[in-house]
Amino acid sequence: MSDIDPDGWEKNSAWWQEGYTDGVDPEYEEQMIPIAMELLAGYQSVLDVGCGEGQIARRLVANGSSTVVGVDPTSNQIIAARQRAGGPEYARAQAESLPVASSSFDAVIACLVFEHIADHVPAIGEIARVLRLGGRFVLFLNHPLLQCPGSGWIVDHVLEEEYWRIGPYLTVDVSMEELAPGVALPFVHRPMSHYLNALIGNGLDIVEMEEPPPPAGFLNKADEYADAASIPRLLVLVAERRR
Ligand SMILES: C[S@@+](CC[C@H](N)C(=O)[O-])C[C@H]1O[C@@H](n2cnc3c(N)ncnc32)[C@H](O)[C@@H]1O
Repeated sequence: MSDIDPDGWEKNSAWWQEGYTDGVDPEYEEQMIPIAMELLAGYQSVLDVGCGEGQIARRLVANGSSTVVGVDPTSNQIIAARQRAGGPEYARAQAESLPVASSSFDAVIACLVFEHIADHVPAIGEIARVLRLGGRFVLFLNHPLLQCPGSGWIVDHVLEEEYWRIGPYLTVDVSMEELAPGVALPFVHRPMSHYLNALIGNGLDIVEMEEPPPPAGFLNKADEYADAASIPRLLVLVAERRR
């Protein structure tokens, strides 16, 4: 899968930083950050892979983790993360090649990152390598089944039916998504089994899975979102290194 523009996030990092970080996005504030803090409470050294501008890494420090390192290949994200400070250390790196020693972290988190990684297998292999035995990996994904390309709420006026349509779930796909005027980024879709088999194949046992409903702050943004209030937008997988 070579059609991922390596500069996409460099060009669009300001859009992300202004619209989705540092307290402005209800899904992060009401859901993703609280879930991440709960799942990683008590873990001392944590690596945030694809940390962006550091909103999760900063909260991990505030949550009591003593050593938090964020890595991201996008220099504009790392520059903003260092400016926003708050305790973590940062480095520019890709998930597929982590510049840290084997078995050196108690936990790793990757939040909404694997949708931008062309090949998830080497990235999950790297995460397994840097985790200590018994260490925990927390993976946040846009729900691969319910949010796959072509999915969405359908109002059929002929059959008088309303339902959530699921797109071609089994097709591995990279699609450019127009996220805002002038902001387009490639998203990789792969079925859930691809993630689960890569975790299992790297000695990472699934210990928990969450599919939280969209939080109130998201549903309140538009009346039509209420129709799909029982369709999760997020999948959270928690795995632990057993070998
Ligand atoms: C949607 S943002 C999420 C940022 C952060 N995890 C958060 O939740 O605020 C996706 C991030 O993935 C990063 N990214 C893209 N390709 C990556 C790769 N191969 N390895 C690690 N991170 C990558 C981008 O630079 C971007 O900062």
